[in-house]
Amino acid sequence: MEAPKIIIAVDGYSSSGKSSMAKALARSLGYNYVDTGAMYRAVTLYAMCHGLIAADGAVDTEVLTAALPRISVTFKRDADGSQHTILNGEDVENEIRGLEVSGHVSDVSAIPAVRHFLVEQQQAFGKEKGIVMDGRDIGTTVFPNAELKIFVDASARTRAERRFKELQAKGVDTTFDEVLANVESRDLIDRTRKESPLRKADDAISLDNSTMTIDEQNRWLIDQYHNVISRLTSK
Ligand code: DC
Repeated sequence: MEAPKIIIAVDGYSSSGKSSMAKALARSLGYNYVDTGAMYRAVTLYAMCHGLIAADGAVDTEVLTAALPRISVTFKRDADGSQHTILNGEDVENEIRGLEVSGHVSDVSAIPAVRHFLVEQQQAFGKEKGIVMDGRDIGTTVFPNAELKIFVDASARTRAERRFKELQAKGVDTTFDEVLANVESRDLIDRTRKESPLRKADDAISLDNSTMTIDEQNRWLIDQYHNVISRLTSK
């Protein structure tokens, strides 16, 4: 019997490695993968490019809300499997990962209209199931009925170290303290915002991957997947 397709929600703090693990899991299951952080980052880039973020960081919520119907965020997969985020037809994968977007994305993603707009699209992506989606509110808001929910955690310092290495490898000019400050401030905004704050769903399984290798993580995830499938098929 073919295994039923399920929805897998992977939530957690920024730079917890959840995107890499969600991507690897999707690849090994032949599932679609959606990086919802990239969608919030793309909307942030749109706001930046259209002068909707003031020098002091204030976002023009009203104008951005009115512009939402003109914003299209899609994904394109390369032959090598790497995923690119497309904003209104343009590949913005590199731009959305920069520190400038990272500095504004928490404020943009705290805007209720932005969240409603993107959550609706995310729910449409999951209609056929067979999907791994990573973000902050996937298990709580986007797919409260997801069959498998993972909540990834690791200390802010561990996450900042990972992010710093990634940025260094990309040649981005920054310091560890700057990256740590960005991780900590995003954690705070993500946790305390009114609309869909970052929170572990009651039925999510926690994973602290501070000391796990990528292989150990991937094996652990596949085990969780098989547990769910055997529970569903033994009913
Ligand atoms: O996962 P990431 O670091 O690329 O996410 C970027 C930002 O988007 C992060 O500060 C929180 C926000 N986000 C969100 O509010 N809800 C999601 N489902 C995904 C990301």
